[in-house]
Amino acid sequence: MNDKVKLVFIGAGNMAQAMITGLLKNEKSPFSIGVTDYYIEKCEQFRPFGVRIFDNNIAAAEWADMIVFAIKPQQYETVLSELRHAALADKVYISIAAGISTQSVCRRLGKEVPVIRVMPNTPLLMGMGSTALCANSLVDDNVFAIAETIFSSSGMTMHLPESKMNAVIAATGSAPAYIYLIIKAIYDEAVAQGVPEDGLMENICQMVKGSAEMVLRSEDAPEVLIQKVCSPGGTTERAMQTFYENKLEDIIADAMRACTNRAEELGKLY
Ligand SMILES: NC(=O)c1ccc[n+]([C@@H]2O[C@H](COP(=O)([O-])OP(=O)(O)OC[C@H]3O[C@@H](n4cnc5c(N)ncnc54)[C@H](OP(=O)(O)O)[C@@H]3O)[C@@H](O)[C@H]2O)c1
Repeated sequence: MNDKVKLVFIGAGNMAQAMITGLLKNEKSPFSIGVTDYYIEKCEQFRPFGVRIFDNNIAAAEWADMIVFAIKPQQYETVLSELRHAALADKVYISIAAGISTQSVCRRLGKEVPVIRVMPNTPLLMGMGSTALCANSLVDDNVFAIAETIFSSSGMTMHLPESKMNAVIAATGSAPAYIYLIIKAIYDEAVAQGVPEDGLMENICQMVKGSAEMVLRSEDAPEVLIQKVCSPGGTTERAMQTFYENKLEDIIADAMRACTNRAEELGKLY
C-alpha cells in the first residue's frame, strides 16, 4: 500500500459520519478518505475537508485500498453483490454490521478476501468510542494495525475472537443506548420532583462521567464502591433496595441476551 491508504466508506449514515469526523480530527491520519451513499447529498458535508465523493459504489471501491461497509445488515446483499461483479483486486474489506461474519462477506463477494470485522459505537463521534475488532486469516498484522487506527484515533479498541463479536454488541456497541435511557430516567424524575432544569442534564452527565472514572481509577470493585455509598439506613441504601427488589441486574442481563440473540438472527437472515 502507498504512504496514504485510500479508505472509502460505502454508506454515509450515522456510523460513517462518526468515523469520518474522527479521522478528520486526526492530523496524522494515514488515510486519504472517500465516501459514497445512495443519497450523495449525505456526503457533501465532507467535501470541504478534502474527502473524495463518489456517485457509485463500484467507482468508490475501485479507487480504495480499504473499503468500509457502513451500511445496515439488510443492505449487504445489494451492495456486496454489486461489488462481486466488479474487477476488484487487492482490497481489504471492513465490515461494521451487527451479526455479519467475515465468512459471509467473502461468500457474498464470491471470493476469499481479507475481511476485518468491527463493532464500534457512536461515542466515536466524541473521540470516546469503544471498538472491538477481529479479522480473518487473510489479513496480515500490518494491515490490521492500519485499519485499527480508524477506530483507535477516536477512542479505545479491543481485539476479540470472531466468536465473541455478537456478544460484545450487547456490552459496548448497543450499550450507549442503555446509558442514555438511564440518564433520561434520572432527568425526568428529578424534574418531576421539582429540581430546576437549568444545568440539570450537565450535572447528571457529570455524575455519570465521574462514576465511570471512580470505577476506572479506584482499586475497589463496583460492588465495593456501591457499599461505600450506601451508609446504613441512608438514602442510597434505600434507592439500591428498590433496584434489587425489582431485579435491575436481571433486566439488564435480559436486554443484553436479547441484543446478542438479535445479532445472531441478523447473521442468519442476512
Ligand atoms: N448505530 C450504531 O450505534 C451502530 C453501532 C455499531 C455498529 N453499527 C453498524 O453500523 C452499520 C451502519 O449503521 P448506521 O447507523 O450508520 O446506518 P445508517 O445511518 O442507516 O447508514 C447506512 C447508510 O448507507 C446508505 N445506503 C443504503 N443502501 C445503500 C447502497 N446500496 N449503496 C450505498 N449506500 C447505501 C443508507 O442510505 P438510506 O438511509 O437511504 O438507506 C445510509 O445512508 C450497521 O450495519 C450497524 O449494524 C451501528
